[in-house]
Amino acid sequence: MRAGGTPAAWRGDGVAPGWEAAFEAVPRSAFLPDVMWPYDMGRRRAVTVARSEAPESWRAFADADVPIVTQWDDGAHEGTSPGRVSTSSASMPSVVAAMLGDLRVADGDRVLEVGTGTGWNAALLSHRLGDDRVTTVEVEPAVAAAARGALERAGYRPTVLSGDGRAGHAARAPYDRVIATCGVREIPYAWVQQTAQGGVVLAPWGTHFGNGDAVVRLEVAGQCASGRFTRRVEFMKLRAQRTAVRHHDRVPPEGTAAAEASTTALTEGICSATRAGTAPS
Ligand SMILES: C[S@@+](CC[C@H](N)C(=O)[O-])C[C@H]1O[C@@H](n2cnc3c(N)ncnc32)[C@H](O)[C@@H]1O
Repeated sequence: MRAGGTPAAWRGDGVAPGWEAAFEAVPRSAFLPDVMWPYDMGRRRAVTVARSEAPESWRAFADADVPIVTQWDDGAHEGTSPGRVSTSSASMPSVVAAMLGDLRVADGDRVLEVGTGTGWNAALLSHRLGDDRVTTVEVEPAVAAAARGALERAGYRPTVLSGDGRAGHAARAPYDRVIATCGVREIPYAWVQQTAQGGVVLAPWGTHFGNGDAVVRLEVAGQCASGRFTRRVEFMKLRAQRTAVRHHDRVPPEGTAAAEASTTALTEGICSATRAGTAPS
């Protein structure tokens, strides 16, 4: 029995043509756990919401245009308070819709998703393209198992694999579309190799100098993939590419005000002359 959709305010912003029926049929709420940690825009932090204790609040957050953390600290977290690092989530619905629009699928396309998470995006893809055309890979076995269960309860049976999505999944390649729903700092070349000629790799990409990403849409031609950025986003990162350098850990909150200052009498002219061996002694 497939779950019926509920209207959500964020859909007023528009869902790409061809995706309306999928968003209508597949509500995000069907993929959320009883205890979850939505981002509360007013309080600017993740809050704990338990369906058993606050069903109306749970439903309001499930239908709201906010990201919802569903796992902390790679599963090592215990209790119901938010953990340290969010490691799995249901992404912000407007971002999910925008990225599916960027993907520009056609009937019959075969898709690989990296980052199954709750399984909601895989369900939307399955509704649009058919179960047999969707493969999704999740690094965290418990998250993959929960997604598989939620997908089955909602009436969808895409191929859900547990493993490191950096390697893609060669056995079901070639794909017409590869979509990553975790941020990357480098595009794994396996994704390009497993994409059909003319196909697309879509991924949130960024640098190690910040947490932000931009969705890059790469078209595969020959051995290469090239393309443009479509929009700014921020995703939790592919496990092996989590940000190593975080500026805010190193820069004090007062900024440069407390920094040591020094000056030099050297000028560019003196430096050039020194290099040329003509500096005045
Ligand atoms: C933002 S969530 C994905 C949201 C998901 N698409 C949905 O519809 O709910 C990112 C997911 O990527 C997974 N992930 C991180 N690194 C991965 C990797 N190397 N391979 C596969 N999945 C990975 C995380 O465990 C997490 O579940």
